[in-house]
Order: sequence, then C-alpha cells, then structure tokens
Amino acid sequence: PRFAIAIDGPAASGKSTLARRLAQRLGLVMVNSGAMYRAVTWKALQENIDPADSAAVVAMLDRISIHCGETGMTSTITIDGVDPGDELRAEAINSNVSAISAIPEVRTLLVDLQRNYLDHTSVIMEGRDIGSVVFPDTPFKIYVDADEAVRSARRSHVGEVDSVAKRDAADSERKHAPLVVAEGAVVLDTSHHTIESGVDAAIEILKQ
Ligand code: CDP
Repeated sequence: PRFAIAIDGPAASGKSTLARRLAQRLGLVMVNSGAMYRAVTWKALQENIDPADSAAVVAMLDRISIHCGETGMTSTITIDGVDPGDELRAEAINSNVSAISAIPEVRTLLVDLQRNYLDHTSVIMEGRDIGSVVFPDTPFKIYVDADEAVRSARRSHVGEVDSVAKRDAADSERKHAPLVVAEGAVVLDTSHHTIESGVDAAIEILKQ
C-alpha cells in the first residue's frame, strides 16, 4: 500500500534539504508543496493581480490549469504548460506567497493536487500543513525546526532575500491551515545537526 511521509516546519528550518536527502536514501518521490503555492503566486504576479485581492486570485484559479507530476524522484509543476523554474525563489514571491497561501480556495485546490500523488506513488511531502491537513492519518510525521538565528543565516547564505520571520508569523497566524505541530508529529530540531546527522535522526524517528 502507498504511504506519505509528512515533513512540516517553518521557513529555512532545513526541511527541504532533509526531505530531499531522506527521499534519496529511501528511494521515494519527494514533493515540495511550497513550490505549488509559489507557482500560484508567480502566476498572479505575472497577471498583475494584487495578492491581497482574494476575489481576483480565486477568479484566476478558474482560468488556469495546474499540472503536478514528477521527473525522476522530484516533483514538478507547470501552470498553463509553463514551468516557472528558478523564478519561484524570487524576492517578489517570498514576500507575496503568504498572502496567496492564506486564501482558502487556493489551499483546497492545491491540497487536492497534493493528495492525488498517492494515486500513483508513495511520497515524502514537505510543507506547512502536510501532517495536519493533507495527510492527517499518516503515521509518519516530522516537524522540522531550528533556532531563528540559524534559519536566517541559512537563507542569507544561499543568497536569497527572504524575511523569514515575517513569513513565519503570517503562516502561523493565518486562519486556514496555519503552521502547527501536527498531532502525532515528532519535532526534530536541526540547529545543531549536520545534514547527514539530521537525516539519520529522521530515519530513527520514522522507525519508531
Ligand atoms: O522557503 P521555504 O522552503 O521555507 O518555504 P516553502 O516551503 O517554499 O513555502 C513557501 C510558502 O508557501 C510558505 O511561506 C507558506 O506561506 C506557503 N505554504 C503553505 O501555506 N502550505 C504548505 N504546505 C507549503 C507552503
């Protein structure tokens, strides 16, 4: 039977790296759900839609077609046939994605696409609400965290302009599917872990 491993946590906690390395070790497809919220944000900005104008964003959802899949072991996304690629990490996306992801209709649409992966493959999926909303029944849930100073340093180290604290506050305080430690999730603090020791710790958690 197919299963999902849920990896949630705040911005720059190390969850993407952890999820990717864990997927490589376990031979599983890794799905980056944040890329989906980023892609919808990218599309809205392309169409000059104000991310705060939720009615306009919702109207856009009816016009566009979003396709999620995977190449090799990594998730892919296109909107109207276009893969936004590296543009998903642009500063304008970092500063607008929390507004877009707070819109309930956006979440309903993307959560459906996320669940659809299980129709054909098991996955490691990383995000904010994977253990709480997308796959609440999975026994495999890890909440990845790290000290705020460590997280900011990690993000500026990769050369990205990203107000991590602001995005976390918005993601934690929103009404729909806020960032929480899901019921049954084990917290893994990566502040003092190397990448490899973090992956080892995650595997120990999943064995329990
Ligand atoms: O930069 P980082 O990897 O921490 O973030 P991300 O996983 O790419 O997610 C970008 C944004 O998408 C988050 O700040 C949330 O606003 C939103 N998101 C969400 O609401 N739910 C998810 N499951 C994943 C991301």
